[in-house]
Parts: sequence; C-alpha cells; structure tokens
Amino acid sequence: MSEESGVSDWNPVEGLTIAIDGPSGSGKGTVAKMLADELALPVLDTGLLYRLTGSVALQRDVSLDCESDVAALVDDLLTDIDWTVDGVFFAGENVTSQLRNEQVGAAASQVAAMLSVREKLLGLQHLLAEKGCIMDGRDIGTVVLPNAPAKFFLTASVRERARRRWAQLKDDSDSSLEGVLAELKMRDQRDAERQHAPLKQANDAIGIDSTTLRVDEVIDRMLGVLERRKLIARSVS
Ligand code: DC
Repeated sequence: MSEESGVSDWNPVEGLTIAIDGPSGSGKGTVAKMLADELALPVLDTGLLYRLTGSVALQRDVSLDCESDVAALVDDLLTDIDWTVDGVFFAGENVTSQLRNEQVGAAASQVAAMLSVREKLLGLQHLLAEKGCIMDGRDIGTVVLPNAPAKFFLTASVRERARRRWAQLKDDSDSSLEGVLAELKMRDQRDAERQHAPLKQANDAIGIDSTTLRVDEVIDRMLGVLERRKLIARSVS
C-alpha cells in the first residue's frame, strides 16, 4: 500500500483468489491481512467459522462428541451468521474477539474434525470467495479452493509458533509458554491426523517457513510469486 495515497501499488487480476494454509501460530492470519492490504483484496479467516461453532456449542451445552448434534447446531447458526472481512457477526453482533481464546480454539479443533460440519460450512466459504479474496485456513488449497491460482503453505517451528501465540495471549491470561506449547502440539496432531480435510500442503502450494523470517519478508516472497505468475501487476502512477 502506498503510504501517501492509501492506494494499492498492485493490481490483482479480476476475481483473484489466494489460498493461505498452515498450522496455528504460523502467522498466516497476519500475513493474509497484510497481503490483502497490499492488494486491496478482501481477506476471510475461515478458522472463525469453526471457532463460532465450537463457542456456541460450549454455550448451549451441545456435546462436542456428538456429530449429529453439532451438525444440527451449524444448520441453526447458518441462518444467523454474517461472515465478513470485519469478522464473524452472530445474531447481529461482531463476536470475533470473543472467539480468540484457547478454550474456543480447542472446541473449534474438535468440531472441525466432523465431516458434516465441514460440508455445511463449505457453501458459505464458496459463496464469499466468488468475487476474489484471500482466504486463510487449513484446507483452503486442498478442499475449499482447489483451483486457486496461488496457494501458499506457511509453517514455522512448533516452539516459535508457541512463542508467538503465548506473546499474544499473555496479557489476557496466565497461561505459561510450556502450557501453550503442549496445547499447540495437541491441536497440530488433531488437525493433521483427522480423517476429513486434514491439514496438509496442497501439491501445487508454495511452502514458506517463517521461523526466521519477518512478516515483510514473507509478504515480499508472496508478491514475487504472484508477479511472476502475472496474477498481479504494478499500478502505473
Ligand atoms: O486458525 P484457527 O486457530 O482460528 O482455527 C481454529 C480451528 O479450526 C483449528 O483447530 C483448525 C480448524 N480449521 C479447519 O479445520 N479448517 C479451516 N479452514 C480453518 C480452521
């Protein structure tokens, strides 16, 4: 984004979709937002849909072990969800900030393992991706947008990811770095080993290990790929 004008330096091709997948704490949310700013594209964080499902299941005492009950809950939620670039609105309220805690993250990981829940949330993701966007999650390159012309898979060492997550959480909770690390390892295992749409790099995705990279270095690599593929071009001023 050009600092003086607030106008993007880049023109994306019409309807460009970019998939960014990776494990918790890999930085994909931050990177997706920055790239979206650079390209003036909407960004959609798909983890929020699973987080909302997990959160409402906890509030309504829906058993996280019962797939049919959680699936019925999703049917109910879908009538009241508004999922926008500003986050998730439920019953008219932006609930995004309430969804970013470890308890909801753990519940989200459980409901995300359920095939019927994933299938029910797929239509909404397709609908919003239609006009072009950057979407981040776990299965965007493999399942949600398999034909996206640009796919990135962001990783970082588990210790570095735990350190980032802990730095985000520590003002609002008394969790220890070791506790966050243990939780992250458990979540990684559940997301990668689940039967349906497990976390895995799409064959045609470009892997970026961000353990020792700054966010702007990651963004530069992505812009380079997009430019070489002629998916973006510099604006002529
Ligand atoms: O990215 P996150 O931590 O907000 O995601 C919450 C959970 O949802 C996480 O356990 C993985 C799951 N998820 C998924 O299965 N598929 C997606 N496209 C996005 C998130």
